[in-house]
Amino acid sequence: YFAGLNSRLAQIEDAAPTQALKPVHILYGSQTGNAESVAEEVAENASQFGLAPHVMALDDIEIADLKKMERVLICVSTYGEGEMPDNAQLFWDAILSQTAPRLEKTHYAVLALGDTSYDEFCQAGKLIDLRLEQLGAYRIADRVDCDVDYEDKAAEWLGSALPEISKFGKDAPTAGVPEASKDVPVGEAKSKRAKWNRKNPYTSVLATNRLLSAEGSAKEIRHFEFALGDSEIEYEAGDALGVMPVNDPELVEATIKRLGYNPDADAGDGKSLREALTTDYEISMPSRDYLTAVAAQAEDSRLSHIVDNNDKEAIDDYLWSKDQLDLLNLYPVVTWDLEQYLDLLKPLQHRAYSISSSPKADPDHIHLTVASVRYDSHGRQHGGVCSTFMADRVGDQGTAGIFLSPNKAFRLPSDLDAPVIMVGPGTGIAPFRAFLQDREAAGAKGKNWLFFGDQKRKSDFIYEQEMLDWHDKGVLTKLDLAFSRDQEEKIYVQQRMKENGAELFKWLEEGAYFYVCGDATRMAKDVDAALLKIIEKEAGINDDAAWDYVGKMKKDKRYLRDVY
Ligand code: 2AM
Repeated sequence: YFAGLNSRLAQIEDAAPTQALKPVHILYGSQTGNAESVAEEVAENASQFGLAPHVMALDDIEIADLKKMERVLICVSTYGEGEMPDNAQLFWDAILSQTAPRLEKTHYAVLALGDTSYDEFCQAGKLIDLRLEQLGAYRIADRVDCDVDYEDKAAEWLGSALPEISKFGKDAPTAGVPEASKDVPVGEAKSKRAKWNRKNPYTSVLATNRLLSAEGSAKEIRHFEFALGDSEIEYEAGDALGVMPVNDPELVEATIKRLGYNPDADAGDGKSLREALTTDYEISMPSRDYLTAVAAQAEDSRLSHIVDNNDKEAIDDYLWSKDQLDLLNLYPVVTWDLEQYLDLLKPLQHRAYSISSSPKADPDHIHLTVASVRYDSHGRQHGGVCSTFMADRVGDQGTAGIFLSPNKAFRLPSDLDAPVIMVGPGTGIAPFRAFLQDREAAGAKGKNWLFFGDQKRKSDFIYEQEMLDWHDKGVLTKLDLAFSRDQEEKIYVQQRMKENGAELFKWLEEGAYFYVCGDATRMAKDVDAALLKIIEKEAGINDDAAWDYVGKMKKDKRYLRDVY
């Protein structure tokens, strides 16, 4: 998907090194693997510019070594509300600290990945870019900030950052650079990369679509199985799957009707407006541009006020459970000509879901565990774009565009004897079902402990039989359940962790890996706090020391999260 890069690179004439390669450190901070895959792409193209690439996660470098690195390219994503990815947090703490080294010899450039629908767009990249400058490092190119459709901008960035950075630093010898990383022709390197991606998804048959939650549940949780057919997709437990949604045709029609357009009007690319709104544009969630354009015509002083003041919290409150059509219906005066309207829309994005199967148990399908988003508001039924697409509109044996979104940071330990602790309430159970399938198939001897919970045992204990069977067989050494609404007072997974604090700490001391999947804003934060408290209490240490203990776990890649 870095199409066009080859030709662009070929045009750059002064890039035919015959002398020894100079090291370039390509450092990434990645939550879901995008920044990591860009870093790999950069590495694959480095040798053409006389550079020998060393790809590492930001957290894997010793901060004292940073000042010896002469050429550094950083690809970093931002997650949640402006937070560092999990494998960049220690790096950030270290460069922010009073004792951070001066970086006079370092030349660098930053590529920031983000999502404009969140506040604090690309914040992690911005912070790192600024801090490195403060520490005396020399920025060789302006930072580039990318939205979710990052591929083209990332390709452009690497096409200019690589030749530029190769001009800096002294010509260091390439001792210690593995042979394999030298002189990799772009074409060859690219062929190893995934065949299917966002721009070219594989058309997969949805072989299974089954309701998991039972009657009485407040949720609709579904189990999907996408057939891999002849795709040659090879996935691993821990990976995510990108699914390309198709919008709800009723929403498309209602939107076109409200705006008074002709559904057969030409929307470019040889598509009718109806087709374009169905497959190419986000027509549910209002973008900032969209809201600003509505506010400009709506004659609603409260709306104008929050938009003019860029009051993010008030905007979020205002947009809560309102989609684009709700805004149009609230303000009947709003109207645009077709071209203006299409300019306000963002391209329809894939949605990524944690895979809930292991290829060792089912190499031919990828399983997903997804809650269908549905709610009534403003007198209409609203549906999550991709979750209701999969639930309602793909149909029996219908197809959807999919591609693998590898998550190399979220993996089982390679040591089959290492104990594993998994915290995954709700659909957060997904990757842990994959892990358990994997551990069972691999005959792993290591202990496995799952904390699961949801509202009610009777209706929400998804995969109950599988979990109980694994427990009976001993694959699941311990299974602790927290059903929040089966009794008066709320019980959450972190309470079960605390009740089992002594044993949990014992497992950690035995080298257990600790995994969390699910809600990032509340659950994952509370679980993190509970973990710290448990360590503090059981190890008899203060909170600083507990913090260091958890920091060491992160550094050793024994505390891994897949949270959203
Ligand atoms: P609740 O909806 O009854 O509050 C999966 O969604 C489960 O996570 C539900 O049982 C939900 O409980 C629970 N949950 C809600 N907030 C949580 C939090 N801060 N920490 C852990 N679990 C939480």
